[in-house]
Amino acid sequence: MTKLRIAIDGPAGAGKSSVSKLIAERLGLSYIDTGALYRCVAFEMIMNDVALDDERGIRRILADLKITFKMEKGRNLVFLNGREVTAQIRTEQVGMLASTASALPFVREALFEMQRRYAEKGGVVMEGRDIGTVIMPEADLKIFLTARPESRADRRQKDIRAAGREDKPYEELLEEIKRRDDQDTQREACPLRPAEDAVLLDNSGMTLEETAAHIGELAEKKMGPGACRRS
Ligand code: DC
Repeated sequence: MTKLRIAIDGPAGAGKSSVSKLIAERLGLSYIDTGALYRCVAFEMIMNDVALDDERGIRRILADLKITFKMEKGRNLVFLNGREVTAQIRTEQVGMLASTASALPFVREALFEMQRRYAEKGGVVMEGRDIGTVIMPEADLKIFLTARPESRADRRQKDIRAAGREDKPYEELLEEIKRRDDQDTQREACPLRPAEDAVLLDNSGMTLEETAAHIGELAEKKMGPGACRRS
C-alpha cells in the first residue's frame, strides 16, 4: 500500500471534501477531513453551552474528545464520543463557531497530535486549512484549492438544496463565505495560506470531475502512471 501523502487546503466551499474523497478512493488512500475535528469541538460547545471565553470548559471538551471516521457508501461518517454526528456538524452555525474556535491556539494544539498521527501513518489525503503548512509539511503533493467567492456561494446553495436543507438567499451565503474567509486567513494561529511548494488551483470554472482529474494527474506524476485506479 502506498504511503503517498496528499495535502489539500483552501477556503470554505472550494470543494475540498468532494475532491479529496474522490482522489482518496481512486488512489486507494484514506481520507481525513480535519475540518470535522474543529466542527466537533464547536458542536460540543453548543450542546454543552460552553462559551468562547470559557477556556476551562473548552479544555474539558478537548480532553474528552474522541473522534473516529468511517467511510460507508461514499459517505464519510463522523463519530463523536461514540455518537454519529455526520449531519449535525454540517450546519452554518457549527461551521462559523468552528472557524472562531479554531483561532484559539490551545484548541489547535490539542488537535495537532491527533492530526499528526494520521500524517505519520501516510497513505492519506488530508484536507483543511493548514495541512501543507503545519500538519503535514512533508506531504508529497500539496494543493491549494480555491474558487471565486461567488462560485463557492453558488455551489453552497446547490448543496443545501440537494440535501433538502432550509434554503438561504444567495447574498447571505456569499456574505457568510466572505466572513469565514476573513476569519480563517486573518487569525494569528496557523492562518489559511498556501504552502510555498503548493500547487495553486482555482476551480471556479471547473466541475468536480475536472478538478479531481487534474489533481489525479499531478498525483500520477508523483507515483508513476496507473496510480489512479478508476472506480
Ligand atoms: O473545512 P470546514 O469548513 O469543515 O472547516 C471548519 C472550520 O474549521 C474552518 O472555517 C476553519 C477550521 N479549520 C482549521 O482551522 N484548520 C483546519 N485544518 C481545518 C479546519
